[in-house]
Parts: sequence; C-alpha cells; structure tokens
Amino acid sequence: MPYLSPALNVMVAAARKAARPLIRDFGELENLQVSHKGPADFVSNADERTERILYEELTKARPGYGFLGEEGGFREGPDKTHRFIIDPIDGTTNFLHGVPIFAISIALEREGQLQSAVIYNPISDELYVAEKGHGAYLNDKRLRVAARKSLPETLMATGIPYMARGTDEERERSLAEVKAIVSRTSGIRRCGAASLDLAFTAAGRFDAFWERGLNPWDIAAGILLVREAGGLVTNLNGSSDPFSNGDVLATNETLHPQLMAILQNPFS
Ligand code: IPD
Ligand code: CA
Ligand code: CA
Ligand code: CA
Repeated sequence: MPYLSPALNVMVAAARKAARPLIRDFGELENLQVSHKGPADFVSNADERTERILYEELTKARPGYGFLGEEGGFREGPDKTHRFIIDPIDGTTNFLHGVPIFAISIALEREGQLQSAVIYNPISDELYVAEKGHGAYLNDKRLRVAARKSLPETLMATGIPYMARGTDEERERSLAEVKAIVSRTSGIRRCGAASLDLAFTAAGRFDAFWERGLNPWDIAAGILLVREAGGLVTNLNGSSDPFSNGDVLATNETLHPQLMAILQNPFS
C-alpha cells in the first residue's frame, strides 16, 4: 500500500473530486466551450472548472499554501514555504479529441523541494502517487523504473513541439533528436501528456522520456514519481533542476549518459 501523508491524502481526494465532472464531460465533448490561448494551444471550460475545483479543495485543506496552476497562474499564500503546482488537464488536445490519455497532475513543493505528487487519469482510473522518501505507486503497486541497459531494447517517449510553436531552429533540432533516437531504439511514442509520459517512465513502461520547453505544471508531479521509482531526472544540460528551462530527460542511471550524449549532439 502506498504511504499517504496527510497532504497526499488531501491531494488524492481533490484529484478524485475534480475527476468526476471530467468523466462526464468526456462522454459529451460536443458540449464543451473551447478557446485558443495561442496557435495549437487550446483551453476549454473543463480545464478552467477542474482548476477551480482543485483550488477550492486544496486551499480549503491547506489555506496558507501558494498555488501555481496552468490556467490561473500563481496565487501566493501567507505560507511562503509551500506551494501546489497544478495542471488541471494535462493532455487537453487528447481530451478534446476523445483520446483517453490525459491526467490531473498535482505536486506539492516544500521549501523548493518536491514533496508529494499525484497524477490521475480519470478514464483508466490509474492513480499514481509519490511522497519524497517513501516511493512511487500506481494504485497499490510499488513502481520501479525499467532496468533495461541496452538502447536497441528500449521504448522511448517524447513530445514534439507543435509546428506553430518555437523557432525554425528549435523545430529542426527536435526532429533531429527524434531521428537520432528512433534509429537507435525500439521506437518512440508521442502520447500527448507529459505527466503520463513521466508516470509511464516511473512504471517502467517507457525506458525514458525527454522533451524540451515544458512548464513546471507539466512535469512537477512526474519528476517526483520517476525519482521515487529510482530514476534520474535532469534537464538536457545535466542540471538536476528541469524547472530552470523546462527541458527534461527522465530514465534509469545506465541509459541516462547514453541518451544525454545523443540528445546533446542530435545532428552528428
Ligand atoms: C501539453 C502536454 C504535451 C506537451 C505540451 C504540453 P497541456 O500540456 O503535456 O504532451 O507536449 O508541451 O503543453 O497543454 O495539454 O496541459
Ligand atoms: Ca495547455
Ligand atoms: Ca500540460
Ligand atoms: Ca493543461
């Protein structure tokens, strides 16, 4: 059974409560109101409502904590040592297309350190939790990252920037990375939800995940899951702080240096 600290219990309850209307919406997608935040960047009233429920539930239980959410930005609380980092729906494009690969992602940071994490896919009912020092779990099962050491045996996950986003140079680099990795591994998956890419890496389903330009809400909970499952998460310069630029490489300790060498020189 997973270790659930009082805070983690609150986070799980909030995720389950916010998931209920999402499950209903998923059956009636034609009723959602969708708007554009930017090119190929959508937000629906379901994203906004989910964040509102999470905000209400979490701040009711922990009134002083700060709250950083994708849709509402940062709301400071009197307690400067704690903040929740929330993605109400990670994988909005999948959600809006009826693809059941999306999740509610909630992390709790204490004094700048990731302390507790929840990632919940309401459709598959897979609940991932982690508490610093107490391991990572999928429902009741303890997680370990995959042990594979040889690249040709590995299954990789990534996210490719939408064509409307980033500079030409960034898009070319991203495609070069995909080419370099696909030719050396058993394949690449692009699932469309960074939180679940990290959760699947923690569960050993994927051997590794990399992506550039993510936001803290996409990755905060997933980083703790992978670390508590024995994996290594850095940015693509090797720094242990992927929040610094949103670039992430998550894998086991043996594959990490091999993948880093390829991703740092994808054109060679
Ligand atoms: C997106 C997903 C996607 C990643 C994008 C994110 P959203 O989050 O995590 O996999 O490639 O960069 O923006 O917008 O669906 O919450
Ligand atoms: Ca979004
Ligand atoms: Ca996201
Ligand atoms: Ca989102």
